[in-house]
This record gives sequence, C-alpha cells and structure tokens, in this order.
Amino acid sequence: MTDLAHTLTAQVAAAFAAEGLDPALGAVKRSDRPDLAAFQCNGAMAAAKSAGKPPRAVAEAVMARLQGVPEIAGLEIAGPGFINIAVTDAALGARANAIAGDPRAGASRVAAPRRVIVDYGGPNVAKPMHVGHLRASIIGESIKRIFRFRGDTVWGDAHFGDWGFQMGLLIADFEARHGVVSESLSPAACDALNATTLDDLLTIYPDAAARAKADAAFRDLARKATAKLQAGDSAYRAIWSHYRALSMAAQKIDFAALGVDFDLWKGEADVDPLIPGMVDDLRAKGLLKPDDGAQVVDVSNGETRKKKLDDGSVVEAPFPPPLLVISSEGSAMYGTTDLATIVERAKDFAFDLCLYVVDQRQADHFEQVFRAAALAGYASRDSLEHIGFGTMNGPDGKPFKTREGGVLRLADLIEGAREKARARLRADEIGAEFSAEEFEAVAHKVAVAAIKFADLSNFRGTSYVFDIDRFMSFEGKTGPYLLYQAVRIKSVLRKAEEAKLNPGAIVVAHASERALTLALDAFDAALAGAYDKRAPHLLAEHAFALAQAFSGFYTNCPILPEKDEAVRASRLALAQAALQQLERTLDLLGLEAPARM
Ligand code: ARG
Repeated sequence: MTDLAHTLTAQVAAAFAAEGLDPALGAVKRSDRPDLAAFQCNGAMAAAKSAGKPPRAVAEAVMARLQGVPEIAGLEIAGPGFINIAVTDAALGARANAIAGDPRAGASRVAAPRRVIVDYGGPNVAKPMHVGHLRASIIGESIKRIFRFRGDTVWGDAHFGDWGFQMGLLIADFEARHGVVSESLSPAACDALNATTLDDLLTIYPDAAARAKADAAFRDLARKATAKLQAGDSAYRAIWSHYRALSMAAQKIDFAALGVDFDLWKGEADVDPLIPGMVDDLRAKGLLKPDDGAQVVDVSNGETRKKKLDDGSVVEAPFPPPLLVISSEGSAMYGTTDLATIVERAKDFAFDLCLYVVDQRQADHFEQVFRAAALAGYASRDSLEHIGFGTMNGPDGKPFKTREGGVLRLADLIEGAREKARARLRADEIGAEFSAEEFEAVAHKVAVAAIKFADLSNFRGTSYVFDIDRFMSFEGKTGPYLLYQAVRIKSVLRKAEEAKLNPGAIVVAHASERALTLALDAFDAALAGAYDKRAPHLLAEHAFALAQAFSGFYTNCPILPEKDEAVRASRLALAQAALQQLERTLDLLGLEAPARM
C-alpha cells in the first residue's frame, strides 16, 4: 500500500530498528486525535521493557532519529509515550497528485489474486423474495465488486432456490386443479399450464403454502411430488420449468432495478445431475450413514450436546447435527444441492475461496455443509466462508413486512422508495427543468441509493429498522446525501469546463485542503479493511467522510472565483480527484450518481 500511514511506517520502523528495537513497533496509524496530529505511533510503550528505559525516553530516542525526514512536519510526545506525527504539506501534495493521476483513485491491489465465487441473492423460485434476500443481494453485490476491484477473479452466482419442497407444492397444487398428470401432461393440462402468468403465480404459491400448513394429506402429496420431480418425471419437469421461467424473468427485472447483476444465474437444480455420483462417492468414502430411513453425513467430529427429544427426555446427540443428504422420501435436500454445488464449482471454477452471503440464521446449515465438504475432500474448510448478516426490521422490531402484512415484494419496495424520492426532489425543487424521463431516472437512482446505503452503512451483522423517510434525507449519513455531493462536484467541474479553466498540479496549503487530502488518502485502508473483513460498511463510512471533507473544502476554499490561477487549478484538480474517488466508492457499494440533480 502507498498511503501516508505506510510511507511513515517505513520511516518510523527504521528508527525503531536503529535503536535496536523491533521494527514492527514502528507501525504508524491514523491518530485518534486528529485535532492534535494526523498520525500516531504507539510502539514506544511496548518497546520500553526490551529497551530498558521508560516509554517517553524510547519515544524521544526514536524522534531524534526522525529529524529531517521530509514527510514529517512535527513530532510530539503525548501521554505516557504516544508519538504524534504531523505531515508536511509537501507530502500531502505529493499524495494528492498521485491519487489525482491514478485511475484507481489511490487504491492498491491484493498481492496474490485469487479465484473467488460470491454466492448471494439466493431468491426462491415461485416464492416472493423476503428481506433476507434483499440484504443478501445488496451486501453480496458490494462484496463482489470489492473483491473484483482488489484484483481477484470473481464470479457472482444467484444460486436460485429451485429444487426444493416449494416446487413440489406447486405441482401438488396443479394436480389438485387439473387431475393427476404424472408422466402424462394432457393437451388440456398443457394449455392450462402455458396460460399461467406471473400474476397467477403470485396467488398460487401463497395459497398452496397455506393449504400445506393446514392439510397434512396435501403436504404429503407435495413431498412425494418433490421426490418424483427430482427423479425425473417428465410432466412434473414441464410444470417446474414453466413456473421457474416465469418467476426468474420477474426476479431478473427486480435485480436489474436494484443494480444487482450476476455472472452466473444458476440454481439448485443445475447440480441435480451431479447428485447420484456424489452420493455414491460419499458412500464409498464411508461418510453416508442411514438415519431413520434417511441418509446423512455425521459432521460432529465426535462432539455431542444435550438434546431434548419430543417425549421430553434428554439425550447426548452429535453436534452440529448430521447433514441430511437424502430424505426418507428419497429427495435431495437443501444441504445436498449446496454440497453438490461445491463439487461443481471446484470442477468448473477451481475456486480458492467461496463466499456465501446469506442470513446469519443459516449459520448452522453452512457449518454442516462446509464440514461435509471438507470430510469428503471437495474443498478445504477455510476456502468456504459464510458471510452472515442481521435482519432488516420493521418499526415493530420484527423482520420487515409490507403494509399489508405480507412478505416483501422487491418491486413494491422500490416503487415505494421511488415515490418518496419524487416527493423529496419536488420539495427541494430539484429537477423542475428536467424531462420526465430524466426526472424518473434521477428519482430511481435516489431511491436505490437510499435503500442500499442504509443497509450498507451498518456493520452487516447488525440488524436495523427500515425507515424510508430517514434514509431519503439529503442531510446526514444517507445515500441521497452522497449522490448530492457527487452531483455538486460534477456541477463545479462542468462550469470550469465551460469557462475553459483547467486543473493543474495540486499544492496543499489550506486546512480544508489538508483535510480533504487526508480523506482521499484513507481510501486504500478502507478498501483493504472492507475486503479483509468482508465489511462494506467501512467503505460506506469512507464515502461519508470524503463527502464531508469535500463539503468543508468547498465552503472554505473558493474554486471558480479564485483569482490566483495556480491555486484555482490546484483546487480544481483536488475537486476532480474527490469526485473520481467518491464515484469509485459509490460504485463499490453499488450506488450510482446522476449527472445532475
Ligand atoms: N434460497 C435460500 C433461501 O431462501 C438461500 C440460498 C443461499 N445460498 C446457498 N448456497 N444456500 O433460504
């Protein structure tokens, strides 16, 4: 990395080494007290013991060796032995110019690129998406972009849920209305199937699900239908295929509206052909065990926990519980398709890392699957990672539901946000002169930014309350605020171009120029942190800090009205660098600023 903290670390580490101390103690980081100095080194305290003198004396000795370092403007001991480090304007200027001239806006790449699959989104065919899928889509999209920008080769896979019990439900429902069709779809039934639209599906699924809850016989039919579908029943396959196509087409439109795009639009069913071979392999390796009519893999590694049985008695049972591979009806289960998908991904993509961006409540499921994959030798345990997240809640503190109390429909959620965005824009008299198309496009970008940024600005493990009015504000830590700042810079740059004013070499002299340069310099560390911790909120925080630093700069440092040509050109270049990095950061979060608003 080439940020100022790393440049200073090299100098301070050398000073520690020259004192006969561990150079690792010379690590320099951003200061907790930026009002005193921008950077600090806390190594003197830890070095005191091996140096055999008090921390402040160590700090003094190190500081004496740092006299004359060109990047350092001042050194000061604070408290027990913290070294506060101020950087020179020349060093800031050099860094600002480097960032301004870098198409990557000052971001480094990973030293050793890997092959990475990001499994996210994961909506279920026929079922409406719920908030877990919304968060998986938003967070997964950002993680995919972050990994790709750091230099890895990345594939995003939607991993549609299209092979489970819900498909059996739809088939059982079809047979309840059109008679048994197994292996022989009559022309009349075929016509009825082809006439089914997405709107029909939106009532068919909830009705069938409700019926299965209340009616054990129907539930049983649906289970049997699931197994028969998986066994290759041709008529069932035709029903499956029609419903799946309807549902996927609608979901593709929703994803596009949200700015979420996959490289692979695969589903659970795609690995169906691999399952028999995998089951044979698990059996041959001695991993498959009968369990109450089902076939399971014990993933407990001998560990047990107390488990309460239905009759109230308590037994020691393997923990985590075994992975269910084949149900007693003979169906492949959720874990089976996940395991087979690992086999497929290893073969087709030779991945080094596979990230599953899925609701935290599925943590146990992934632990079972990952252990089974490691036992069977399909992938190493540390190449598989569950990236969990909390829930998006309604005002009642429970997982978000729409006003009618139903589960979320993404299209409705986005339209609701768009409506708020239109009102917000009108209230602020933004876009009155736009064409209807442009106004709509801006409202859409604002709506999506509001939803996504609100999600990404919290650490993913945290649950949060969906509050569209707060998310939509143009003030504070919101998506619309960030778009607004980006648009403001665009407008300055446009005016400069019209006036034929050109950017030039950056010279840092004003406190607000210093602050903006330090904000720009923080991008690389924010990106690396977001990558290492799979935590986009670090970039969300960076975007906000950068926008605020620009805002302070814009208030205190005139750009276009500046009379001194060199100063004006420098400030223009700083503004351009700020825009480039802000737009890059927004893109990594999955947000897009309009040209004007
Ligand atoms: N379809 C699943 C669900 O709705 C999520 C899929 C997550 N990805 C995976 N590889 N299991 O719960």
